[in-house]
Amino acid sequence: MARKDVSGTAGKVSAQPRFHQKAPEIQPYGTVKLLPLELEEPVRLEMTEQLNQLLADTMTLRDLYKKSHWQVAGPTFYQLHLLFDKHFDEQVELVDAIAERIQLLGGVSIAMAPDVAETTQIERPPRGREEVPVQLSRLLDAHQIIIRDCRKLADRAARIGDQGTNDLVVSEVLRSNELQVWFISEHLVNMPLVEAVDTPERVKKTA
Ligand SMILES: [Fe+2]
Repeated sequence: MARKDVSGTAGKVSAQPRFHQKAPEIQPYGTVKLLPLELEEPVRLEMTEQLNQLLADTMTLRDLYKKSHWQVAGPTFYQLHLLFDKHFDEQVELVDAIAERIQLLGGVSIAMAPDVAETTQIERPPRGREEVPVQLSRLLDAHQIIIRDCRKLADRAARIGDQGTNDLVVSEVLRSNELQVWFISEHLVNMPLVEAVDTPERVKKTA
């Protein structure tokens, strides 16, 4: 069907910008286009679907880090405020790498918040603020889901011949998440801050 020319500039050279343009999408979500990658269509379909799951979960974790960065409270405010933002920045890089891997495989990356919310496996947090141990636990639960995604996806990618996806998932996504888990987990160790706990048993052992 021919499109209606609302600006009256169709086919003419004109300085007038064409506003409010609409048209059907050029590639539906969940499809892959043909590319000379020596990877069969079913492989690229499966990989892009699994990468989109990883992408939705990574975008959710990225946003959970920014929420935690803004809403953190208490004596560890400053260090956690900075750490959460560092991890946020690293997750931003991962989001871009995963999304672009989906596009270069000929697929369509999930992008908008409502679509991410419908797809992610990570539990939705409340809008309000939570205590630090709860924030940290939420972040670790989210990391665990992503690490599970990564192990499954990396294994499958290697098995069906998509070495590029395997490399991205292992070298970038998995390793970054493992490192962040370490940094967050160490904040959940119950350590005395000022006075060491020297119970009689411990004193005896070190004597
Ligand atoms: Fe900030």
